[in-house]
Amino acid sequence: MRHYTGLDKIINSFDQALRSLVPGATSAQRTNPSSDEPSQLCVSDARHVAGLMRVNHSGEVCAQALYHGQALTAKLPHVREEMQQAAIEEQDHLAWCEDRLQELDSHTSVLNPIWYGLSYGMGAIAGIAGDKYSLGFVAETERQVSQHLQEHIQQLPAHDERSRKILVQMNEDELHHRETALNAGGVDLPVPVRITMTAISKLMTKTSYYL
Ligand SMILES: [Fe+2]
Ligand SMILES: [Fe+2]
Repeated sequence: MRHYTGLDKIINSFDQALRSLVPGATSAQRTNPSSDEPSQLCVSDARHVAGLMRVNHSGEVCAQALYHGQALTAKLPHVREEMQQAAIEEQDHLAWCEDRLQELDSHTSVLNPIWYGLSYGMGAIAGIAGDKYSLGFVAETERQVSQHLQEHIQQLPAHDERSRKILVQMNEDELHHRETALNAGGVDLPVPVRITMTAISKLMTKTSYYL
């Protein structure tokens, strides 16, 4: 196995962060599930959908950071491959949300570097705390992301099949990621940690919608 020095790891971390934060730097491995039907949205609907997709995109930036932070510190000897597969699927989600935002003539959140930094730190700390907490952290994050996705699917204009198909596929993937983390031994996180995560995620959804 190749040995990486501390400097290698720092450079790699910067590379990963830039790929997650610079629009267009990540490409999806799977085809975008978005429907071929063009969605004709009025201006206010388009603005609302863009807000929702911006929040979902920020959520995916957090997911990238979580998996990157976790990879830095967690051992995960038995589930490294599954976690890497989940991280690849998160890249698809990131790219699909970016595509939809572009179609809606909108932009990704300017706050993404903050969300990336916070999630990276929490992922790395969870990894240091031990694999069962690290996997528990993944499971709880995926649960919260899935909850947002389901709320957003409800809020989409009825005829916006393009956004709906993306969010439905993402939700399916997130639930699978959660299951993988739990099956691999992820434990329930202490209540204060869960409360902090919910608070940060609320702050993220409230601000990324606009900014
Ligand atoms: Fe995701
Ligand atoms: Fe996920």
